Amino acid sequence: MPITGHTRLTALLGSPVTHSISPLMHNESFRLLGLDYVYLCFDVKEDTLEEAVRGLRQTGIRGFNLTMPNKNKIVQLADRLSLSVQLIGAANTIVNDNGILTAYNTDGYGFMQSVKDAGHEITGKTMTLMGIGGAAAAICAQAALDGVKKIHIFARPTSRFWNRTEEMIKKIHQKTACTVILHENGDLPALKKALEESALLVNATSVGMAPHTGNSIIEDASLLTPHLAVGDIIYNPRETKLLSMARERGCPTFNGMYMLLYQGAEAFKLWTGREMPVDVIKEKYFSE
Ligand SMILES: NC(=O)c1ccc[n+]([C@@H]2O[C@H](COP(=O)([O-])OP(=O)(O)OC[C@H]3O[C@@H](n4cnc5c(N)ncnc54)[C@H](OP(=O)(O)O)[C@@H]3O)[C@@H](O)[C@H]2O)c1
Repeated sequence: MPITGHTRLTALLGSPVTHSISPLMHNESFRLLGLDYVYLCFDVKEDTLEEAVRGLRQTGIRGFNLTMPNKNKIVQLADRLSLSVQLIGAANTIVNDNGILTAYNTDGYGFMQSVKDAGHEITGKTMTLMGIGGAAAAICAQAALDGVKKIHIFARPTSRFWNRTEEMIKKIHQKTACTVILHENGDLPALKKALEESALLVNATSVGMAPHTGNSIIEDASLLTPHLAVGDIIYNPRETKLLSMARERGCPTFNGMYMLLYQGAEAFKLWTGREMPVDVIKEKYFSE
């Protein structure tokens, strides 16, 4: 479809953005559905985000995604916050309705879809989550909203996100029936116990991401037993050290590729009101 005066703009604001797969998946989906939209990437850092958002609001942009390092600061710049953003304190999607910017976080939704896609049902069950960064918070909040019974989180007590996580847990306990327990990374007896009662272990830290592919957030492979499904939200490499350890121990595994796909599909729906043709996009850009 040619770009005309009617074409609506969507975008990604982050730094770096040149490696992103998002323009491919969104522009191809617009083309397949005959929607008059375009998706572009803009290199915007935290110190220029406010100015960029002010400008984009004036252009009448339909919406945009945020990636590192902008997921936290955007929350102060939006006019309205979805329930999950209120819980998490970070957003990855903005929808512009006639100048009113509403912030959403589709990372958690994307993750929960990827769990289903891998054939697992975790509603009413217990999961263990490694990490308390932006993606981990989104996963924790969405899992709680979707009916996971208990979430054990493991993180470094020195983390700059520790206090924010404690605040998030208080809100989750007020608004959902889920129990969330925050543990220190070094508490190995607690980790062993948490994994024994969990149906799913998720790595939401950057440990194991390229180029540091020799690292795993779980060092002792004997903690991984076949009753446990193991997910890693990292997608580069496709199989992290954690996933290869888990596979060798007989655990079912999945990586972060489909989380990436489904977080994009949810943003697409928020902007256009249409379902992304995920099967085609999966085949074209997300097959191994
Ligand atoms: N598949 C997807 O769609 C998707 C979406 C978003 C993110 N991701 C991936 O998820 C990962 C995290 O992203 P993010 O946006 O959440 O980043 P982030 O906000 O910077 O959080 C990173 C987390 O990793 C922890 N961490 C880093 N090194 C560690 C170590 N050596 N030991 C223990 N914890 C460590 C950090 O702990 P401290 O706070 O203590 O430093 C923090 O909890 C990245 O690899 C990213 O590519 C994937």
